[in-house]
Amino acid sequence: MSRFSQVKFGPPIEVSVLNERFEADTSPNKINLGIGTYRTNEGQTWVMPVVRTAEKALAADETLDKEYLPVLGLESFTTTATKLLLGADSPAIKENRAFGIQTVSGAGALRLGAEFLARTVGYPISYISKETWESHRSIFPNAGFKELREYRYWSNSNRGLDFEGLLEDLNNAPENSVILLHVCAHNPTGCDPTREQWVKIADVIQERKLFTFFDSVYHGLASGDLETDAWAVKYFISRGFELLCAQSFAKNFTLYNERAGNLIFVVKDTDVIPKIKSQVTFLIRGMYSNAPSHGARIVTHILNNPTLCEQWKGCITVMTARYKDMRAALREALERLNTPGNWSHLTSQIGMFSYIGLDEKQSLYLADKHHIFKLPSGRINICGLTPDNIEYVANAINDAVLNVQ
Ligand SMILES: Cc1ncc(COP(=O)(O)O)c(C=O)c1O
Repeated sequence: MSRFSQVKFGPPIEVSVLNERFEADTSPNKINLGIGTYRTNEGQTWVMPVVRTAEKALAADETLDKEYLPVLGLESFTTTATKLLLGADSPAIKENRAFGIQTVSGAGALRLGAEFLARTVGYPISYISKETWESHRSIFPNAGFKELREYRYWSNSNRGLDFEGLLEDLNNAPENSVILLHVCAHNPTGCDPTREQWVKIADVIQERKLFTFFDSVYHGLASGDLETDAWAVKYFISRGFELLCAQSFAKNFTLYNERAGNLIFVVKDTDVIPKIKSQVTFLIRGMYSNAPSHGARIVTHILNNPTLCEQWKGCITVMTARYKDMRAALREALERLNTPGNWSHLTSQIGMFSYIGLDEKQSLYLADKHHIFKLPSGRINICGLTPDNIEYVANAINDAVLNVQ
């Protein structure tokens, strides 16, 4: 008998289950609102034209070889990426207290940062928001944290942030807990703290001696403005916090499968940097040895070329304008149909994802009766909506709200 016969099924991955159900559905009307990537008005996947331009330039550059990258990655990439998020005038950059380490996209940055905090530093407990990107739940325990806890985030009754719950949970967190915070465009709720709320979050983190680990995946894709979207990180740095930030280029460069990521460290004292780098080198050698170059080179090429950088910002504007249009169109259609409930959260939420507020039964009904697929949690990807399908989706949601309690 095979040694592997004892292996049991692992827990299902929500998004994969949903995609399988979608593929199996034979209706010509089927719509997938569960995907995690951008779609055009025509419902097509998209590679930014500026990425294609950069790829052509890189392909033509015969000085680029296929040697291994250094274990800590391509320095021109990590420096450029860190500057993009923190801003060139960041006090942490000017004082040489910030540096980046190239990672296998955002998930790799989270895993590496979590390994460092749990195994090297010895932090025992990590906190994630109750509603979150599902992989956070496995990354932190797998990286060595002894305990994973949740802080409250979403209030279904207000269809917004449960800020009192969030503050109470952080206030009760034991000293030295690591708090994971989404920088902007919170996945899955599409609901971010206001600046005043970020100030209060920073107060609690400081008073309770907690450690901040930011997750930045949607930089530029929340408000459309790079400065605004990075505000929370810059604010924490302005208060002198030490922190880590996982930075992904999957979504804001449409480079999902190139795995371009950066783990930013901001420290108080420059003396610790060589020791941190040596420990992180050791962690990377034991995990994947070194990161891939292609995506990192694309990002570096674009951000360091003023013309291409402007084109990239133009692409970000195209994406965020589409989110806003689809949010407004869905709200308008539901209000026109007099669908019971308040739909203003559709336009107050931000970014690619939205918690529209349908429960699990209503979500199943949408799939079974109308061939519209979304995560059971209630998250929809706004990009699954197109000018052609929005009326169909609004009528289906109206039907689900009226007929499934
Ligand atoms: C909140 C959040 N963190 C991290 C990631 C990981 O992104 P990447 O594809 O860069 O690994 C995602 C991807 O959807 C995400 O939504």
